[in-house]
Amino acid sequence: MPVSEKTPIVTLLEGNTPLIPAPAIAERIGRQVRVFVKYDGLNPTGSFKDRGMTMAISKAKEAGAKAVICASTGNTSAAAAAYARRGGMNAFVLIPDGYVALGKLAQALLYGAEVLAIKGNFDQALEIVREMAESYPVTLVNSVNPYRLEGQKTAAFEIVDALGDAPDWLCIPVGNAGNITAYWMGFCQYHQDGKCDRLPRMMGFQAAGAAPLVTGQPVANPETLATAIRIGNPASWELAIAAQTASQGNFHAVTDAEILDAYRLLAASEGIFCEPASAASVAGLLQVKDQVPTGATVVCVLTGNGLKDPDTAIKHNHSQFKQGIAAKLGAVAEAMGF
Ligand code: F0G
Repeated sequence: MPVSEKTPIVTLLEGNTPLIPAPAIAERIGRQVRVFVKYDGLNPTGSFKDRGMTMAISKAKEAGAKAVICASTGNTSAAAAAYARRGGMNAFVLIPDGYVALGKLAQALLYGAEVLAIKGNFDQALEIVREMAESYPVTLVNSVNPYRLEGQKTAAFEIVDALGDAPDWLCIPVGNAGNITAYWMGFCQYHQDGKCDRLPRMMGFQAAGAAPLVTGQPVANPETLATAIRIGNPASWELAIAAQTASQGNFHAVTDAEILDAYRLLAASEGIFCEPASAASVAGLLQVKDQVPTGATVVCVLTGNGLKDPDTAIKHNHSQFKQGIAAKLGAVAEAMGF
């Protein structure tokens, strides 16, 4: 890690998240395979962004920054706000108006960020904050800040430490493409240091309405219910392609329906509540399950906590929700189907 004694470490004790066996997903694959999920929704602000933000904010503080800025579909803004305030700095966050999950907005506000909702999408917000950081005294903490990726690579270290080697496949949701880049950096660094014998195939999954790495073209108006990855022109495009090529991996698109199926499967069969964008990793694995070699070890990255987006959870599971039942034993028993 690029830190020295002079670096003031701003931390909330992020990382060390569990690698949880996922037998119900393995069963869906239908052959002898091991499937695990790296549940990064258990980080302090509920997403993997904390791994990168502890680094970016510590380095910003070391450099004497008074304020940081980011564009975000929600999770980066929550993490930037929490770590900036903990480090005694101000945070400015630009979000696409109306397309950020409720929990993430609540976090950014309560952590004390200045929240600027723009009439535009993430890609436009990122363009603006990049220019802002060049012209004004604010440090950019999006994943184009190299310290973000240095922090996020630690998730790959933890997976190798837990399994004793790298997995055969790493399935990961892709939006701005920073995280897939960071994981690949982490696996390569561990491989060079002799801590793992193999390198995983990097399998990146994008939402079908926001899949520029699959089509090879930027998407002007990205659309998906997985708002975290509603991104049409990823900043780390080339680095993500390099990781895919070097690892003999692939990019695939998953539909919103496939994302919702995986989201429900994870919650109702594994007991793991992630946000919709995170479920894209599992949706993708199930889409290409016939390509998984027998005996393989697969890790799916669950990037964010399901509590971030209560609206989607409630809206898409309404049939189980029986309301207006009389406060009487008989009525409750009847509603239960007895
Ligand atoms: N999953 C979640 C829950 C995310 O919040 C993000 C990105 C991704 C996956 C994709 O990661 O961008 O590194 O490819 N969220 C960013 C944000 C864009 O602003 O919170 P990526």
